[in-house]
Amino acid sequence: MTRKRPKIGILGSGKGSNMVALHQALQSGQLDAELALVISDVENAGILDRARSSKIPAIFLDPGPFRTKLDEAAETRYVDALISAGVEWVVLAGFMRILKGRFLKTFHHRVINIHPSLLPSFPGLEAWKQALEYGVKYTGCTVHLVDQGIDTGPILWQETVPVLNEDTPDSLHARIQEAEHRIYPQAVQCAIDGRLTVRGRLCLTPTL
Ligand code: GAR
Repeated sequence: MTRKRPKIGILGSGKGSNMVALHQALQSGQLDAELALVISDVENAGILDRARSSKIPAIFLDPGPFRTKLDEAAETRYVDALISAGVEWVVLAGFMRILKGRFLKTFHHRVINIHPSLLPSFPGLEAWKQALEYGVKYTGCTVHLVDQGIDTGPILWQETVPVLNEDTPDSLHARIQEAEHRIYPQAVQCAIDGRLTVRGRLCLTPTL
């Protein structure tokens, strides 16, 4: 009997390179799931164009009046759209708003994020710039489950990226993104396969 492939929904605010990496992993069979819906809070975001050009259902949903979060009505719109599309796992790919309340209750431990630093260092915006300005020699990217905080949820996967003397914010971010595109599909597969054990703020993953 063939196993039903779990449906994922991707939320993003930007250019969508992680969405493309996930989509490519789905097409090559590296990631065994179905991409049911892409949602953006930014009407003209690249992620929507890139999804639509690959025939992936993609919609803009009004995020409401706040700049950094969804208000209650918007949260309901997002949850309803994901549920109507049959989504079981929500994958954030550069979604620049905090999710709370109803959203996280509905998808408890089923919202995954990727962040461009080795958390808990450099949460928040432009983490690669923060790393460069601080002068660390290694940074990287982190995949984690989303909780109510900003980039604070249980860590699932990390990869280091060296900071080079000649790095600019753009060159460093580009190298971090290469690492993101490598690890995100594997980390998502691990989560949807149920190979994670969450204990408080610890997430035990199989040996990587
Ligand atoms: C990625 O680097 C991702 O880690 C970051 O936004 C970028 C989105 O790029 N996310 C955050 O900073 C979340 N705190 P993309 O649109 O090309 O996937």
